Amino acid sequence: MPKISKVTVVKDLCIGSASCVAVLPEVFDLGEDGKAYVKEGSVASADAEAILDAARSCPVNAIIVKDADGNQIYP
Ligand code: F3S
Repeated sequence: MPKISKVTVVKDLCIGSASCVAVLPEVFDLGEDGKAYVKEGSVASADAEAILDAARSCPVNAIIVKDADGNQIYP
């Protein structure tokens, strides 16, 4: 499992499905705009497989996951 260094929610894609929040509330939350955001400082301590599970749960692939080298590993 690669080390995950950056997780981004593409706001233009997010439809507020909130499955990411259900899978991993330690990292994802819904903002006042009804779209998900990544909680500050949460990625470093989160389990990489759990982050990928949350990203895979998004119906519109709005969650971009990058490894420590900056390579996009999902989607
Ligand atoms: Fe948005 Fe996808 Fe989460 S639509 S709320 S990023 S599951």
